[in-house]
Amino acid sequence: MNKLIIEGGHRLQGEVEISGFKNAAVAIIPATVLAGDTCIIENLPEISDVKTLSEILIGLGATVRELGPKAIEVNTTGMTECFADYESAKELRASYYLLGAGLGRFKKARVVYPGGCSIGTRPIDQHIKGFEALGAKVTIEHGIISVEADRLVGAEIYMDVVSVGATINIMLAASRAEGMTIIENAAKEPHVVDVANFLNCLGADVRGAGTDVIKIKGVHELKGCNHMVIPDQIEAGTYMIAAAATKGDIVLNNVIPKHLEAITAKLKEMGIEIIENCESIRVVANSPLKNINIKTLVYPGFPTDLQQPMSSLLTVANGTSVVTETIFEGRFKHVDELKRMGANIKVEGRVAVINGVDKLMGAKVSASDLRAGAALVVAGLVAEGETEIENVHFVDRGYDQLEEKLVKLGARVRRVSL
Ligand code: UD1
Repeated sequence: MNKLIIEGGHRLQGEVEISGFKNAAVAIIPATVLAGDTCIIENLPEISDVKTLSEILIGLGATVRELGPKAIEVNTTGMTECFADYESAKELRASYYLLGAGLGRFKKARVVYPGGCSIGTRPIDQHIKGFEALGAKVTIEHGIISVEADRLVGAEIYMDVVSVGATINIMLAASRAEGMTIIENAAKEPHVVDVANFLNCLGADVRGAGTDVIKIKGVHELKGCNHMVIPDQIEAGTYMIAAAATKGDIVLNNVIPKHLEAITAKLKEMGIEIIENCESIRVVANSPLKNINIKTLVYPGFPTDLQQPMSSLLTVANGTSVVTETIFEGRFKHVDELKRMGANIKVEGRVAVINGVDKLMGAKVSASDLRAGAALVVAGLVAEGETEIENVHFVDRGYDQLEEKLVKLGARVRRVSL
């Protein structure tokens, strides 16, 4: 167990390289199962979720070779089944992508009921609805989800809620189904597009990703390919928020500014200067922070994954800000920890009312989930004195070289083993 110790009050300055997108990587690695061949995945973030998934694939009979710090070669030729019904698969939500990929390749798969961050009930009914529509039988027994089909046949599937995970899982299975699958009310997030691009690179026929109707024409065969994961919009957004909180001036390299439009718009509303270039963004925070309201929405709305770090920033803005969480009902667990640091926040249901305070004060706090951890890091960077953050393993699931990147930007952060 590790903890992070942050001495707050240091302005972030300089350049930071943004890593590959966690949420795309954790879908693309399981998707290699579909290829039954060798795939090279580049621009992977060095995070524990990527390591866990690589280990799961090895457990399933694939070979995974590191090609340097940020690239792996995955060969899934030797796999004969896709039964990931063991405990380590429970650690992360993305293990459920093995259901779609295994169903597509072997017509059956088994995965332990997924875990991941505890931020709400997180049902998987839309995944099940999709698999069943394609002709699979789905059973959940003793905490294991099993999917099996004699034939997978394309279907028209209307998503009752916009779900990133269900959209991707259905795309994976449908890429090997007979005929056409149409997903209506599909998720439009950038990583849905990245996974579709990866599948097309394998030889699949996926069209419309990035819009709310995705058409997948099943193909008989897929083959290996090389793929470069897109930059992490959530990591980038977190550094933008951290720069704003510390009155910093930073340049983020390796970003797609279009993917950051929601966060850019809200930071501009707060009085932060944002200068966009082709693949980089500069964030300059010179003026007092204005209060704003945010409501989390599906892409291109404000991402729920940045709601928690953004809440930390709003604790030190002028006036009252209102944060409405519409995606996950349990995503305010960071609030009690922020209160320990002197924040003035009231939560009622899915709404947090944040009254800006002059300063936060360092305290001992604990991360309850990945983005709650990121929120505490932002708070620690701006607080007076020292902040100790426990449960850093949550943060390690999604932030590549967090301390190194922050230290390079001028922050005082160190990791201590407990
Ligand atoms: C993904 C992201 C996560 C992000 C979230 C929303 C990954 C690995 N994780 O999570 O970081 O916070 O998108 O952008 O990519 N829902 C159902 N039934 C389902 C599936 C989802 O009701 O079958 C609901 C969820 O409870 C939630 C909403 O739909 O309220 C969105 O969830 P979803 O988009 O599926 O999130 P994840 O894919 O789990």
